[in-house]
Amino acid sequence: RYEQGWVSRKTDSLAEAVSWALQMQESKEACSIAYHGNIVDLLSYLIEHNIHVDLLSDQTSCHVPYDGGYCPQGISFEERTRLLAEDHDYFRVLVDKSLQKHFEYIKILHDRGTYFFDYGNSFLKAVYDAGVSGVCKNKDNPADGFIFPSYVEDILGPHLFDYGYGPFRWCCLSGKDEDLAATDKAAMECIDPERRYQDRDNYNWVRDAGKNNLVVGTKCRILYQDAKGRLKIALKFNEMVREGVTGPIMLGRDHHDTGGTDSPFRETSNIKDGSNIMADMATQCFAGNSARGMSLVSLHNGGGTGIGNAINGGFGMVLDGSERVDTILKMSMPWDVMIGVARRSWARNPNAISTAEEYNQIRSETDYITLPYLADEEIVTGLTEKD
Ligand SMILES: NC(=O)c1ccc[n+]([C@@H]2O[C@H](COP(=O)([O-])OP(=O)(O)OC[C@H]3O[C@@H](n4cnc5c(N)ncnc54)[C@H](O)[C@@H]3O)[C@@H](O)[C@H]2O)c1
Repeated sequence: RYEQGWVSRKTDSLAEAVSWALQMQESKEACSIAYHGNIVDLLSYLIEHNIHVDLLSDQTSCHVPYDGGYCPQGISFEERTRLLAEDHDYFRVLVDKSLQKHFEYIKILHDRGTYFFDYGNSFLKAVYDAGVSGVCKNKDNPADGFIFPSYVEDILGPHLFDYGYGPFRWCCLSGKDEDLAATDKAAMECIDPERRYQDRDNYNWVRDAGKNNLVVGTKCRILYQDAKGRLKIALKFNEMVREGVTGPIMLGRDHHDTGGTDSPFRETSNIKDGSNIMADMATQCFAGNSARGMSLVSLHNGGGTGIGNAINGGFGMVLDGSERVDTILKMSMPWDVMIGVARRSWARNPNAISTAEEYNQIRSETDYITLPYLADEEIVTGLTEKD
């Protein structure tokens, strides 16, 4: 990560890492600093030295904490690898102890004003599995969610997923740099940066993507777009393939999206209609994409949060430049996204309701999303209290 430029500075000294961070804060410079050590030691240091943290999360591999994803505090990485192979039971005990302390430190920082969120790695579930039932809202089990939000609840949900913005992907199958550059330019031209701040962010992202040299492998790009934007870009790309501007292009998306994933610890955690433990959206997304003719469809398990914790419906679509593909795109791209917006609208999220209403107007000839009837909360409370 350091060599690729994601991390600007690295150190194995807590004092150095923290002093760099404070200097950067003082001079208001953006900087990514890696402390090469255990997170629990870092949190302990911050508490001991009374250092304020605005935002805090965790991205250890907590979807598999007992299989090497989480390194317990107090042992070296080499010792962790030896224990994993030779004494797995003892390793589990150490992981649990470390996660308990990890959570205790987060609570201390939270009480001092830090905003903590789960990054979608099943951290809070791992804390629960380590024996801390106090991490659950109902103090007993995760069915009602956890005391700290997943980042989808407060951040990605209202700002992006409710509108349908999610990680749309493409891959230039020719493997040529010039094809990727041509698609970047075409995608940028499909976005109106004045529409919303999200569009401005996406526009800037794709405009600068080539310059920032973010591609580490195949000639692929990922770009947040809503249903309308994804369809517009997909049709433009298919036209470019048809006209011989680029070779064939494969579309897809991350499982971490508006539609497609049921995940009580991430994408649909604490969804406000109380359906966090339901798993039918992914199946419907997958089935609808198959029926509409996507080239590749998948119904799979475990994306991001671990096996057994999520169901994901995914797709891949090869753009070969044909009119047939245009027809499939027009039917399937909106389905793939709006299924999630519809559900979020039924959860009464205001931005999802307005996005569904707008969709109904634009697609009134062919589609209709049923909308929730918003009862007056005061009347409902009054009536239920009277009973
Ligand atoms: N929210 C998302 O969209 C999203 C995306 C990708 C991955 N994830 C999830 O995030 C987690 C991390 O993904 P990744 O691809 O970076 O995994 P990774 O295994 O490559 O990286 C995790 C890192 O955490 C380090 N680590 C483990 N225990 C530690 C400890 N106690 N202190 C300090 N460091 C410790 C490991 O050494 C490793 O370098 C996974 O659970 C993954 O499923 C979430």
